Amino acid sequence: MFSAITGAIGALKGPLHGGANEESQKMAEEVGKPENAEAYVAERLANHDKIMGFGHAVYRTLDPRATVLKQLCKDLGERRGQPHWYEIFSALEETTLAQKGLYPNVDLYAAGVYHMLGIPTDLMTPLFALARMAGWTAHVREQYANNRIIRPGSDYVGPAERVYVPIEERG
Ligand SMILES: CC(C)(COP(=O)(O)OP(=O)(O)OC[C@H]1O[C@@H](n2cnc3c(N)ncnc32)[C@H](O)[C@@H]1OP(=O)(O)O)[C@@H](O)C(=O)NCCC(=O)NCCS
Repeated sequence: MFSAITGAIGALKGPLHGGANEESQKMAEEVGKPENAEAYVAERLANHDKIMGFGHAVYRTLDPRATVLKQLCKDLGERRGQPHWYEIFSALEETTLAQKGLYPNVDLYAAGVYHMLGIPTDLMTPLFALARMAGWTAHVREQYANNRIIRPGSDYVGPAERVYVPIEERG
């Protein structure tokens, strides 16, 4: 159980995966106001930099989790007297769709929600990992319930036969 969960945390790590919520918050802070979103996105795209909180390896349109979090970000902003986070994120959404055809993923509006809940930016990814713990644990239990070893298949497509050349004769 400990090894599986440690491995899962390792797989989640990194700015393009689990770390994207923290990067989304830093981006919103850097953008500062909705009017800056268009130029920010244009510059990132021109430099071939990723825009955090956008795109997904599987979802090709709006990530369904983003729809829920977008509304939460709007509502929470109104309740907390901090509507600017929603305004910045939605300006980024509009311009990134227009400029690159990319939709927000779960991390964009989640960053604003976490922030307004008082979660420090460097705890956003650990919090997301905690929420995944139930699912990861369920997977481990499921595996133990019928504990067959999994052996992924692969096809070797390299040259079939090669001549052995002793190391001292190699160029
Ligand atoms: C999640 C992610 C890694 C998926 O990558 P992917 O499967 O390679 O994405 P796609 O195949 O759909 O990419 C298609 C095109 O959009 C670009 N693209 C994808 N996401 C982008 C982003 N966030 N910002 C800028 N360009 C992006 C790709 O570079 C590619 O461009 P090209 O056709 O000009 O080469 C990628 O979208 C990303 O890095 N997003 C930002 C980080 C993030 O928010 N991660 C959390 C995911 S839940």
